[in-house]
Amino acid sequence: MKLESAVVISNTKVYENTYVTWFHAPELASGVSPGQFLMMHCSNDRRDPYFARAFSYHRIDGERFAILYAVVGRGTAFLASLTGGDIVQAYGPLGKGFRLPGERGNLLLLAGGVGVAPMVDTAERAVAAGHAVVAMMGARSAAGLLPAGHWPADVEYITVTEDGSSGLAGRVTEALGEYQPWASRIYACGPNAMFRSLAEVLRHNGRHQRPEILMEENMPCGWGMCYGCAVFTRRGVRLCCKDGPRFNLFDVFP
Ligand SMILES: Cc1cc2nc3c(=O)[nH]c(=O)nc-3n(C[C@H](O)[C@H](O)[C@H](O)COP(=O)(O)OP(=O)(O)OC[C@H]3O[C@@H](n4cnc5c(N)ncnc54)[C@H](O)[C@@H]3O)c2cc1C
Ligand code: FES
Repeated sequence: MKLESAVVISNTKVYENTYVTWFHAPELASGVSPGQFLMMHCSNDRRDPYFARAFSYHRIDGERFAILYAVVGRGTAFLASLTGGDIVQAYGPLGKGFRLPGERGNLLLLAGGVGVAPMVDTAERAVAAGHAVVAMMGARSAAGLLPAGHWPADVEYITVTEDGSSGLAGRVTEALGEYQPWASRIYACGPNAMFRSLAEVLRHNGRHQRPEILMEENMPCGWGMCYGCAVFTRRGVRLCCKDGPRFNLFDVFP
């Protein structure tokens, strides 16, 4: 884990209330595996007692990295207000990320809402390693979808909306269709409700796909000091920040 002053390169609204911010920070951008996260101090005031906030690595490019986030409160509003040259204190990379297979396979990436953030970096690495990748993103409506141009060209991108305004109608876990038997491995990030229904869909015919999920808990410290991020698993209590955020789906939703 490294602590570094990350310098803002650009800050762009990409859809609805969701932004992508690129930073220059050689230390924070090195040695990252897909699905890891970092903690960002979302304030200019060093005396501010406010906790740092957790964000997944969305993309990495040499000494630069990007986060993708929805503005939901004070910290994310601060990030959305940043402009080029601004500086944010951050520490990372943290946690355990996805394990991509060594042999070539068919990878199905499932994203619910802002759970799409770590999936683009995951897709880029998977494509570079020679895997076939289908990415499926679910949102309430078309306005909540990551535009297709943000994915690597070789990824097949399927959108699913609850109101049917783009792509397939319904929820991601109802739309797996032919892609579920096609997949050799499944990776997911989104709300717990999505994981619960994914476990139901895969319980009888998807265990061999060893689905991995990235979980979110409130994380005051991000590196195992405060015990504020407990996750109850089949193997006992685990810390989301240190033992996760990657878990085996069926360990948490048996
Ligand atoms: C490992 C990890 C990775 C994450 N990656 C991303 C990411 O890539 N993009 C992104 O947009 N968000 C991500 N989050 C969630 C992000 O940390 C919260 O959205 C952020 O802390 C909100 O800060 P805020 O000050 O803007 O909102 P606050 O004012 O603190 O809260 C606003 C609302 O968001 C809820 N909230 C706050 N923190 C969390 C949290 N950790 N999990 C769930 N709900 C929360 C609060 O209960 C409240 O309803 C991640 C969280 C974790 C634990
Ligand atoms: S966030 Fe402090 S122990 Fe996990």
